[in-house]
Amino acid sequence: MMSLMGEHPQNIDCGVSAIYNTKPAPLKEPLVPFEHQVGGHSALSHAAGRVWKPMIKKEVTFYQRIWAEESSPECLWIRDWTPRYYGLFEREELAEERVAPQASSGPLGGRVTEKPAQREGSRGSEVEKRSSPWEKKLSEIRKRQKPMRLYVCLEDLTARFSRPCILDVKLGVRTYDDDASPEKKLRHQEKVRNTTSGKYGVRLSGMQVYIRQEGDYLFRDKYHGRTLKREGLVTNLRDFFDNGNGLRRDLVSRCKAKLEFLKSFVDVQRLFYFYSSSLLIVYEGDEDVANPSVDVRMIDFAHTQPSFDHSDPGCSLGVSTLVKILDEILGED
Ligand SMILES: Nc1ncnc2c1ncn2[C@@H]1O[C@H](COP(=O)(O)OP(=O)(O)O)[C@@H](O)[C@H]1O
Ligand SMILES: [Mg+2]
Repeated sequence: MMSLMGEHPQNIDCGVSAIYNTKPAPLKEPLVPFEHQVGGHSALSHAAGRVWKPMIKKEVTFYQRIWAEESSPECLWIRDWTPRYYGLFEREELAEERVAPQASSGPLGGRVTEKPAQREGSRGSEVEKRSSPWEKKLSEIRKRQKPMRLYVCLEDLTARFSRPCILDVKLGVRTYDDDASPEKKLRHQEKVRNTTSGKYGVRLSGMQVYIRQEGDYLFRDKYHGRTLKREGLVTNLRDFFDNGNGLRRDLVSRCKAKLEFLKSFVDVQRLFYFYSSSLLIVYEGDEDVANPSVDVRMIDFAHTQPSFDHSDPGCSLGVSTLVKILDEILGED
C-alpha cells in the first residue's frame, strides 16, 4: 500500500487518499482513447501509464475493499493479481476526449488486423488486412458514450510493452450478478450454454497479436470467441503465442506456471464470486526485447460480489482449463 505513494507521477493528482474515499478526487488530466483495448462494453481512456474506466459501482466496491483490508491475506493476494488501483476520479468539466494519435493510418496506426480462424485447428499463412468489427464497434461506443463523470483509475497493464500482445478470456460458468433482471439472466445463461464458458468456464473475449512481418496486429474479437468450441479455443491460444515465427514456447511455459499459481489461490479464496471477470494476459510482441515476460492479471469486477465464505468453482474451472490447454500446446510437436 505504502509503496504506491512514491509512484504517482507528479502530473496526475491521484493521491492515495482517493483509494479510500468514496468521494472522488478531481480528474484534471485530459484523457485519450485507449488504443490497446481488446474487449469490453465501454470505451476506456488512458494517460501516463494508467487507464480510466467509466465507474461501475460493484467494481469500485471491489477495488476499495481489497485496498482497504490490510490485514486480510486474501486481499493482499488479490492485489498482486489485479491492476493497481489508483482511486475514483471525477471529471470537473465534461470536455471532449482527445483523438488518439494512434488512430491515424500507418502500419501500426491502423492498430488491428482481423482474420477469423480459417478452420478450427489451423492458422493460415497470410494475414488478411481489413478493419476489425471490434474496432468499428469500439469507435461506435466512443461516439455514443457521453463523457462520463466518474471513473476508476487503474494501472495500464499494456504500458510497459512496446508491441503488446493481449488476450482477454472471460472466466466462470455464470456471468451475471444477483442484481441482474430475469431477462438478463436468461440472456447470459444462453450465452454461457452456447459457448465454451458452459463446459470449460472460459471463453475468448478479445485478442491482439503483433505480427512482425506485417508490422501490424492480428485481431480476434468477442464475437469470434462466442463461436468457438474447445478445439477453436486451443487454436486461438496457440495463435496468441505465435507471432508468425513459431510458437513462443518459453512464454507459454511461463504463462502456464503463473496460471497454476493463480489457480492455487482461486481454489481456496472465499471472499468473492468473480462473475464475468476476465484474465488479461499480456506479453511483449517485439522479439528483440530481452527477457520477455508474460503478465497474467484478473480484470473486470463490474459483477463481482462478496461470496460470504464460499469459493468460486466456475472461476477455478476456467483457470484449470487454460492450464490444461497450455499443457496440450506445449506437448505438441
Ligand atoms: N488495467 C487495464 N490495463 C490494460 N487494459 C485494460 C485494463 N482494464 C481493461 N483493459 C482493456 O479494456 C477491455 C475492457 O475492460 P473491462 O474491464 O473488461 O470492461 P467491461 O466491464 O466493459 O467488460 C479489456 O478487454 C482490456 O483490453
Ligand atoms: Mg470485460
